[in-house]
Amino acid sequence: QLDDHMLYKTIDEEYGLEEMCNNLVKDMNEYGVCVLDNFLGRQKGIEVLDEVKNMYSAGYFKDGQLVASKDKTNNRNIRGDKIAWVDGKEKGVSNIRFLMNQVDAVITLANRMVNNGKLGHYKIRERTKAMVACYEGKGSHYVKHVDNPNRDGRCITCIYYLNVDWDVSESGGLLRIFPDGWSDRVADIEPIFDRITFFWSDRRNPHEVQPAHRTRYAITLWYFDANERELAVRRYQRDCESLRKAA
Ligand code: OGA
Ligand code: OGA
Ligand code: MN
Repeated sequence: QLDDHMLYKTIDEEYGLEEMCNNLVKDMNEYGVCVLDNFLGRQKGIEVLDEVKNMYSAGYFKDGQLVASKDKTNNRNIRGDKIAWVDGKEKGVSNIRFLMNQVDAVITLANRMVNNGKLGHYKIRERTKAMVACYEGKGSHYVKHVDNPNRDGRCITCIYYLNVDWDVSESGGLLRIFPDGWSDRVADIEPIFDRITFFWSDRRNPHEVQPAHRTRYAITLWYFDANERELAVRRYQRDCESLRKAA
């Protein structure tokens, strides 16, 4: 369950939360993609980055997994990141937890705004844990894919970037989105420090991470639509049941 009291706390403070939500709703409805800069502010962003670097040094990152693939070598050619899942209750992640709460606050408020089109059509009550991802340079990348091609419940992808002084011309690592219906136009998003990007997780937004030549950190949250998620969970349980019977 998303943490509601956090929402009311931040509205009263000066984070410009309402303005962010207005931008989010407007851009998602118009483009299906939204980019907000200076999301936490420099100091807080650095504190999040420090926690991520500590996790990395401590060896918490594992190869990014592809659900249906057992072939590890081939895997790396598709998806070259290393990842760690964080639920916010672990030791040493209070700033990552703060980030998660801030994103929850923006999504919750935006989702509550009435008469706003698509964001309001989703019933958002839950999300995944945070996926902390590291592309270690050396050309590591993630080929063009859709996060949620088969209605697993995820409706919005949110990616927060942590890369100080990132220069795409030198270090690559661009997020390129190929929005369905933009014909041959793309959205190129530089993974710069303290930037957050939102997009619809379904087939409307195929995207890729271009080869990175420097360590590239990001934290991703996926928000669930309650109805689609419930159907996906039921479908999954039914499949397990029939597998069990067949065995
Ligand atoms: C899920 C989930 C995150 C992922 O769909 O249940 O947590 O990318 N997805 O593995
Ligand atoms: C992903 C992904 C994009 C990025 O992990 O599914 O597409 O910019 N990441 O890190
Ligand atoms: Mn993706």
